[in-house]
Amino acid sequence: MFYKPSEPHGLRHNPFKALIAPRPIGWISSLDEEGGVNLAPFSFFNAMADNPPIVALGINGNHPEGGAKDTLRNIERTGEFVCNMVTYNLRDGMNATSALVPRAVNEFELAGLTPTPSELVKPPRVLESSAHLECVYWKTLDLPSNDPNHKNSMLLGEVIGIHISDDILTDGMVDMTKYQPLARLGYMDYCYVNNAFSLNRPGED
Ligand SMILES: Cc1cc2nc3c(=O)[nH]c(=O)nc-3n(C[C@H](O)[C@H](O)[C@H](O)COP(=O)(O)O)c2cc1C
Repeated sequence: MFYKPSEPHGLRHNPFKALIAPRPIGWISSLDEEGGVNLAPFSFFNAMADNPPIVALGINGNHPEGGAKDTLRNIERTGEFVCNMVTYNLRDGMNATSALVPRAVNEFELAGLTPTPSELVKPPRVLESSAHLECVYWKTLDLPSNDPNHKNSMLLGEVIGIHISDDILTDGMVDMTKYQPLARLGYMDYCYVNNAFSLNRPGED
């Protein structure tokens, strides 16, 4: 089949996100200007560069109370955030923090997660996560939107500090069978990595 995204696709659900799968999940902790804590998952998330390491977040739509989602608003105002990496064992806690709740709600408390201090930025980390990226805000790109009431934004940040639990290392390498990162597929589906294989690039044997 072929379809233009601007026209009906004729399928039961929009297939777009199922095609760009799996997508890693950035579980983003941030602070508002009064120090209120926020935590929310984003699967429009990925690494964009590694020297220095840069991450991107796609933050789309509004907060139920109006204006930008807390994550975008907080990071633009306070300049810092943490990407807490989501693993299979944290799937329910991660999902709980995506609830549409008032701005004042601390999603760490909502989901029964443990905040622990970061090294270089003010937002706390999720203690239960096996890896964390401490980030400083770089810039936001306003993306096209077909709905004037629905803003699409791409937020970019530089990673200035990285935590890795010893529990996911084997011989100095991140061991995917221990790490088991969770990823978003299409629809309501997820997967997680529990095996890996190697493939050398041409000339790199
Ligand atoms: C697995 C998962 C992935 C999500 N990915 C995104 C995303 O990439 N962009 C987005 O705007 N919302 C995404 N959401 C929804 C947000 O988590 C949700 O809107 C949340 O309430 C935003 O919180 P905030 O207002 O505290 O920033 C996702 C939800 C789940 C469960």
